[in-house]
Amino acid sequence: MTFNWQQYTVEDLRSHATFTFREGGGSRPDVLLIEIDGHKAVLKDQAGADKWFGLLIGPLLNWRECKALKKLSDVSCIPDLLSTPSKRSFLMSYHESEQITRLTNFEPDWPSFFEKLAGAIEELHHTGVAHNDLRNPTNTLITPDGEPVLVDLVACFCRGRSWNWPNLWLFNKFSQVDKSAITKMKSRVAPELLTDDDVNPEQIAGKAGMYAKGLGQQIRRLSRKLFTG
Ligand SMILES: Nc1ncnc2c1ncn2[C@@H]1O[C@H](COP(=O)(O)OP(=O)(O)O)[C@@H](O)[C@H]1O
Ligand SMILES: [Mg+2]
Repeated sequence: MTFNWQQYTVEDLRSHATFTFREGGGSRPDVLLIEIDGHKAVLKDQAGADKWFGLLIGPLLNWRECKALKKLSDVSCIPDLLSTPSKRSFLMSYHESEQITRLTNFEPDWPSFFEKLAGAIEELHHTGVAHNDLRNPTNTLITPDGEPVLVDLVACFCRGRSWNWPNLWLFNKFSQVDKSAITKMKSRVAPELLTDDDVNPEQIAGKAGMYAKGLGQQIRRLSRKLFTG
């Protein structure tokens, strides 16, 4: 039988935190490792952000990320949503892993890893979701077996109906931006694997592509300015 995480309140969960991946503050949530009876999960709690940000924007960000996780429940490189103990927090499956640019315990076989990563991102897009924050390397994790895990879907962009041309156009641009993140990661950790087929941000339809690339960051920056001191 699977462990019933839904029985716990956010306070219960927080009292079982054994590790802090990221301490909240400003526009950042708390990201905590929770351990109960030998079972592990990750709590992302917007209550850890500054008060006004957490109160006003927190529920919206939480809702966006949970919606994406539900939509991607069949995609294996994405954590599973386990519970939503409050409006501002959710609990997801824990994946033993390290951030791609901060590996300390293992060195994956890079060619095979990047092949899997490209496949994972393809699968995400096929399901109708562009991640939109993969150029930030802390959102790509690697398991000791060399499998990619993609986290932090708060900035994601979903594909709409087929008649919604502006949406489809944007979705395509954001998908290309995701692919350009692979190029960026490769150039950081295994530049010898770069090929002419890798997507560069400048190629993503010139100015419009660069606009798509910066949009997520701009929204984040603006909301930070408005809601934090
Ligand atoms: N499901 C998970 N399993 C293991 N580690 C995780 C998981 N989710 C997040 N992390 C760790 O926590 C860090 C921050 O999580 P993230 O969702 O990116 O928060 P933020 O929105 O603050 O960037 C990640 O870079 C990763 O190291
Ligand atoms: Mg992140």
